[in-house]
Amino acid sequence: MFTTALAQRGKTEQGDLPLDLFWSIETLKKELNAVILAHYYQEPDIQDIADFIGDSLQLAKAAANTNADVIVFAGVHFMAETAKILNPDKMVLLPDLNAGCSLADSCPPEAFAAFKAAHPDHLVVSYINCSADIKAMSDIICTSSNAVKIVEQIPKDQPIIFAPDKNLGRYVMEKTGRDLVLWEGSCVVHETFSEKKIVQLKMAHPQAEAIAHPECETSVLRHASFIGSTAALLKYCEESPSQEFIVATEPGIIHQMQKRAPHKRFIPAPPLNNCACNECPFMRLNTLEKLYWAMKNRTPEITMPEEIRLAALRPMQRMLEMSV
Ligand code: 13P
Ligand code: SF4
Repeated sequence: MFTTALAQRGKTEQGDLPLDLFWSIETLKKELNAVILAHYYQEPDIQDIADFIGDSLQLAKAAANTNADVIVFAGVHFMAETAKILNPDKMVLLPDLNAGCSLADSCPPEAFAAFKAAHPDHLVVSYINCSADIKAMSDIICTSSNAVKIVEQIPKDQPIIFAPDKNLGRYVMEKTGRDLVLWEGSCVVHETFSEKKIVQLKMAHPQAEAIAHPECETSVLRHASFIGSTAALLKYCEESPSQEFIVATEPGIIHQMQKRAPHKRFIPAPPLNNCACNECPFMRLNTLEKLYWAMKNRTPEITMPEEIRLAALRPMQRMLEMSV
């Protein structure tokens, strides 16, 4: 399964890689009693070796329910942190500790504390794409798959701060008719799609359906016939009678789309420039090799102060209760 990828692999800074990386990872998994959780934006090899692939909500639920002793999180830092918040006694490994997130970084804790203080009557609903510090300052966490459902459960007269993604926030406002106070954060990947190029693609492929993640800007979302989390986009492609899709989210998901619907055609939505900037530079820091070394050396490990973990756990638990 991994022959092509392995042909390009060999020595790394940490030493020689085993010849059969796939088999070695499986062996380490048994030795450590580990589970590999992967997001849909990971490289295909990682998706193929993972025990569980999902969107942020599915991954949080999988992390909450695992019996493994070690969680290897093939995703970005806030996702691995979320797994640690839910599992203080388990070791959580992230293949590359630099796998951050522009959206999480767009909401620094000190500035957010001041923003929150300026809106003292507001309930804070935070998108899971934020640091443990921001989660600790929040009342309820949400993901792209339950944000609308969660906001709808909050009494209409309760003012709400929605952070950190302004695009998801605007989408939730439109869907719920609620007026939310938005933190002006965004994702570098989802902001990069070109409305003009999507329109041109739709004209060139008149049978194709455009689908988009709600982290995209309104100008892109208005051309989509379906908007949803990565898991929802995947399900939609499988079930829709359409044979062609223009996909406005990180193109890593196309690996699963193609596996689930091999006869259909998936066209990645083009970014503004002629570069690969519709690939998440943070997600793509993880590689199969780094995943192997993380398991072999049991590092890099996610840790956090217990008071932050406990404060971040409360809004996470509220989300899990409100999204059953
Ligand atoms: P979901 O998989 O929950 O839709 O999130 C997308 C994303 O950008 C994760 O960083
Ligand atoms: Fe963060 Fe965007 Fe990458 Fe998701 S795709 S991890 S929101 S930078």
